[in-house]
Amino acid sequence: MARAAVPVLSSLGPVVLDRDGGEPLHRQLYHALRQAVLDGRLRPGERLPPSRALAADWGLSRNTVVTAYDTLLAEGYVTGRVGAGTYVATSLPDAAPGSLPARDEVRRGIGLSDRGRVLAEAPAIARDRAGRPFALGTPALDVFPFALWAQLLGRCWRQGGRTLATEPDPLGYAPLRAEIAAYLRAVRAVRCEPEQVVIVSGAQQGLALLAQLLLDPGDEAWVEEPGWPGNRAALLGAGARLVPVPVDGEGIDVAVGMARGAGARLALVTPSHQFPLGVTMSLARRLRLLDWAAARDAWIVEDDYDSEFRYAGPPLAALQGLDGAGRVIYVGSFSKVMFPALRLGYVVVPPDLVEPVRAARRHFDGGTSVVPQAALHRFLADGHFASHLRAMRSLYAAKRSAILASIRDAFAGFATAEAGEAGMHVLLRLPPDCPDHALAGRAARIGLTTPALSGYHRDADGIAGNGLLLGFAAHEPAALDRAVRDLARLCVGDRN
Ligand SMILES: Cc1ncc(COP(=O)(O)O)c(C=O)c1O
Repeated sequence: MARAAVPVLSSLGPVVLDRDGGEPLHRQLYHALRQAVLDGRLRPGERLPPSRALAADWGLSRNTVVTAYDTLLAEGYVTGRVGAGTYVATSLPDAAPGSLPARDEVRRGIGLSDRGRVLAEAPAIARDRAGRPFALGTPALDVFPFALWAQLLGRCWRQGGRTLATEPDPLGYAPLRAEIAAYLRAVRAVRCEPEQVVIVSGAQQGLALLAQLLLDPGDEAWVEEPGWPGNRAALLGAGARLVPVPVDGEGIDVAVGMARGAGARLALVTPSHQFPLGVTMSLARRLRLLDWAAARDAWIVEDDYDSEFRYAGPPLAALQGLDGAGRVIYVGSFSKVMFPALRLGYVVVPPDLVEPVRAARRHFDGGTSVVPQAALHRFLADGHFASHLRAMRSLYAAKRSAILASIRDAFAGFATAEAGEAGMHVLLRLPPDCPDHALAGRAARIGLTTPALSGYHRDADGIAGNGLLLGFAAHEPAALDRAVRDLARLCVGDRN
């Protein structure tokens, strides 16, 4: 096997690229550079050599270098604009804390545990891109009633200060738990009592907490393929062995799951609006999944992260409501309906899990900060939540129609949008001659954030889809239209 150790950027040290290996050279180069950023060998703000120069120095094709740079760019490890050079990002994606010890230090045992390293290196979205079209998961913050929110926070503190300042219940502020239980029963057909509702600091914390409580290291857990990296990270952080289960038009393929990992202890699914494909799990699949869990005493964790935004048909009941065996744990979030920095979500657990969860919360963090919970309680109880939700639903429905029309017009059939009937993003399916990671990278250079669908596939033997995810909630139709047309021009440029 011809291996070439090529000393490059002075700070990078030797990099070994396996020219006869199975992995394409641009992926190897991407991994090497990403690792150097994670290790701190490439420092924030450091300039990468121009792609032409690096290609010449390393004896690579320029395309290889450009594709590697573009993937780093799309994931937020580097920044750059056309003609202005490529620099290591000063604010790295969540997965890449600049202070992470170098990998060989970790290997020597000075630094992180294996699970800690897995967590620290798990991919995540680049949050510094949230302001750009088409950043995912960002709501229309320009229409959130922040003045009212500030009033509620102030009022809760003034009126309840002393009471709210005492030792909190780790399961959350009781009036908020009751309000959420009533909402979930009425709107999502979740079967629950207020005692079963646990307030968490975002759905992500809920997922990590459940993984710690329900899985032993080495236990198998089904994850959707493709799927949300945060879900995988939560399970990996508990030492789980992931069993990737493909998703088709009916949701997770339970038969494949049973063939690959019938003995799994847990399945983590997004039945209402699969992330990232946007499909809704069919009733037949739901029943099959519930049967499997009941027969195996396995847990199903239902991640209902954005189910509030449904634009057609009757409201969809949660999987939890169909469960007669008490195997489904329901997880929801206020990040999309309110705002992401609020960091409030909830978990609905079966009655037997309430006390173990209370104990775990006490040991982990003692519970979630109480004043925002009290303000959120008033926001729900006084009807502001329902009216904000109604307003957002019709605003997003209009933005969704607008972006779909822009896509139809600008792409004229050579790429098509799949939108499902819910959520805050559409999936743009690209033709094979327009690879998504390369296009995402070029889009990043003109100020667009468009995660590549293939980036959400982790299954080595899976067939990665080719597409881009376009969040539409945070931008006006005119801005979305301009951005869609810019993207279409890049895509056409690729194909010519
Ligand atoms: C599929 C999915 N699950 C969970 C989460 C986490 O939500 P939270 O912000 O409440 O932690 C997200 C956030 O975007 C998500 O997309």
